[in-house]
Amino acid sequence: MTAIAMVVNGREATAEVADRTLLVQFLRDTLHLTGTHVGCDTSQCGACVVHLDGKAVKSCTLLAVQASGAHVTTIEGLAPAGDLHPVQAAFREHHGLQCGFCTPGMIMTAVDMIARHDGALDEKTVRDELEGNLCRCTGYHNIVKAILAAAESTRSAGTPLAAE
Ligand code: FES
Ligand code: FES
Repeated sequence: MTAIAMVVNGREATAEVADRTLLVQFLRDTLHLTGTHVGCDTSQCGACVVHLDGKAVKSCTLLAVQASGAHVTTIEGLAPAGDLHPVQAAFREHHGLQCGFCTPGMIMTAVDMIARHDGALDEKTVRDELEGNLCRCTGYHNIVKAILAAAESTRSAGTPLAAE
C-alpha cells in the first residue's frame, strides 16, 4: 500500500492504495466520482478521460500513485454545482449524446481540445482528435457539431474553456 494525495475537483484527496490501483478505480471506488466511466480494458474507448494538471488523460492507463501530487478534474468538477460548462451546454443544445455512456469522456476530451487550439477547430481536426473516444450510439455527427459550436463560442467570447 502507498499513501497518495492529490487535489480532485478542487478538494484534497488522500488515501492508502494498492500500488496496482488505477486512477479510474481510485476516482470511482474510493472517491465515488462515478461520472468517469470504464468502457473497455484495452485503453481504447476514452470513457475514462479526466484532466490531469489540465491535460486530458485516460484514467484507466495511469496508476493512482502516478497521479499523486497532481490536480485532477473529473466531469463532476468541470462546472460549479448546478451549472453546465459551455461544452456540456453545447452537447445538450446539439444533441451530442444518446445513451450518454461516452459523454463524460467526450466532454473532457473536447474541453482540452478546444483549449489547446484556442477554439480554432475545424471538422477534420475534431474528428481526428476524437480518435481515442468511441461512441456506440450517435455516429459522432452531433458530437462534432457540439464541439465546433462550443469552440466557436469560445472564440467569440475570447475566454478559455479549460477548468484548470
Ligand atoms: S476505460 Fe479507459 S480507454 Fe476505455
Ligand atoms: S452516446 Fe451512447 S456511447 Fe456515445
